[in-house]
Amino acid sequence: MPCCWLYDARGSDLFNAITRVEDYYPTRTETEIVSQNAQDMANFCGEGAVLLEYGAGSGIKTEILIDALRAPRLYLPIDIAADELAQTTSRIAKRFPRLDVFPIVADFTRDFDLPPALPLGPRTAFFPGSTIGNLNLREAIAFLSRMHRHVGAAIIGVDLKKDVRTLLSAYDDSAGVTAAFNLNLLARINRELDGAFPLDRFIHEARWNQTESAVEMHLVSLDSRVVTLAGRDFTFFSGESIHTESSRKYDLVTFGSLAETAGWRVSQSWRDRAGQFAVLSLDAVS
Ligand code: TRP
Repeated sequence: MPCCWLYDARGSDLFNAITRVEDYYPTRTETEIVSQNAQDMANFCGEGAVLLEYGAGSGIKTEILIDALRAPRLYLPIDIAADELAQTTSRIAKRFPRLDVFPIVADFTRDFDLPPALPLGPRTAFFPGSTIGNLNLREAIAFLSRMHRHVGAAIIGVDLKKDVRTLLSAYDDSAGVTAAFNLNLLARINRELDGAFPLDRFIHEARWNQTESAVEMHLVSLDSRVVTLAGRDFTFFSGESIHTESSRKYDLVTFGSLAETAGWRVSQSWRDRAGQFAVLSLDAVS
């Protein structure tokens, strides 16, 4: 399923709540990496930078990066979640009054055009949150190739392989926020596609898929039943699941060759002490 469907207004709120739960380590780890290496990252972007962000979200890490940049020219946040994009945009515009901010409501996994006549200056893409992990191999290559057409440099957050227990509890937190986030998809289907999912008869489950090196999010039907939506019937066996999302975990070598396939070379990598998460700088090779 395209990952953008999880982010309606309630989904965006729930996702922001996920980033604050103890079990979900990626956000705080990546934020710490960006804080500690902001100056290096800013040097990589160069003076007078034009910064594009794919899947801008709440923009906390972006603020840290922008704050370190020398005389940035323009910030282009791109996100499918229009409400949250508007909030993030106005907060960043207020905090950095000399920076031009131009939000774009778009699904960055599809083709979209950048506004014509962007100001001159080195263009860098910022793609944090390990969102690259939510794309399969084909989608990831298509995304990285499109990014290559937009910019000549990128800073990208990648979640790394680690013990399965840590991974699974990050995607099935004890506070139940991730479960609520995943189940919100069924509430959205009920509302927007005239669906009849009984929300209390499906449960969230996170599974590790070793072959794909991915945490898979599922919604498991507790009964056998037929669910109608958009005028069609869908049959579930008891225990059968809807696979809603995957979050692929990389090692640096595998990610490096993926990037290379799409025309990029990894130039620097910044990691936390425990080696849980990596933020990489990429240069376009061709
Ligand atoms: N980019 C996030 C990740 O893969 C998205 C995410 C976090 C997510 N928790 C989730 C997606 C739970 C679906 C379900 O880590």
